[in-house]
Amino acid sequence: MELHVFDTIQEASQLAKDVFVKAINENPGCLLGLATGSTPEVLYGLLIEAYKNGEVSFKDVRTVNLDEYVGLGPEHNQSYRYFMNSNLFDHIDIDKNNTNVPDGIGGPEQNAKKYDALLESLGQPDIQLLGIGGNGHIAFNEPGSSFDSTTSIIDLTEETIKANSRFFENIDDVPKKAVSMGIKSILKAKKILLLAFGESKAQAVKDMFELPVTENMPATALKNHPDVMVIVDKAAASLL
Ligand code: PGA
Repeated sequence: MELHVFDTIQEASQLAKDVFVKAINENPGCLLGLATGSTPEVLYGLLIEAYKNGEVSFKDVRTVNLDEYVGLGPEHNQSYRYFMNSNLFDHIDIDKNNTNVPDGIGGPEQNAKKYDALLESLGQPDIQLLGIGGNGHIAFNEPGSSFDSTTSIIDLTEETIKANSRFFENIDDVPKKAVSMGIKSILKAKKILLLAFGESKAQAVKDMFELPVTENMPATALKNHPDVMVIVDKAAASLL
């Protein structure tokens, strides 16, 4: 894992943006693995700017997202499909038919199977973007998740529900389950970019680097991948 520490989220996101723009310009039909949450918001803003400046086109780019809340449809303003449309896809020249987010509505197990079949048919992502939970989760793979897992239905931990309640009016509105790409599928990408910002991620970043590979700390699975860039701000690196 290659560590990059920056003073600010803006500078850190700039590096991530440069990696994405280079990959797209080298292979305009590339497959990008994308993530939601607060962490990638600045990066997505920079990618929109790069598109508007003519630095990059997403015309032939294909995307897969990591996860979706069970029970939230695309029109729900906290669904991850809604997040992706409003934070990125609505502002660039991507064909939305080439963008994929797991379905939150419908039979959860069926949706997970369908997403796995889709991932299989799309092949290896060129880049997979990741955030990290304060408890070390990647996508919604909570501590204890098998490293052999493909897309599955996850019971969110109390900690994750609490962390994500900041986006909802009431903590009771936070869905209790999510459909999430598994760790095995995440590790299939050619290159992984993990972003982590702020003090609340410092312990998870430290554990990811310092603990041996263990299913109790999902992000340690990344040590089994040959090409991982960890891009953090000073606060997230403060315990290293
Ligand atoms: P955040 O979430 O980007 O909103 O901090 C990241 C995660 O929990 O994986």
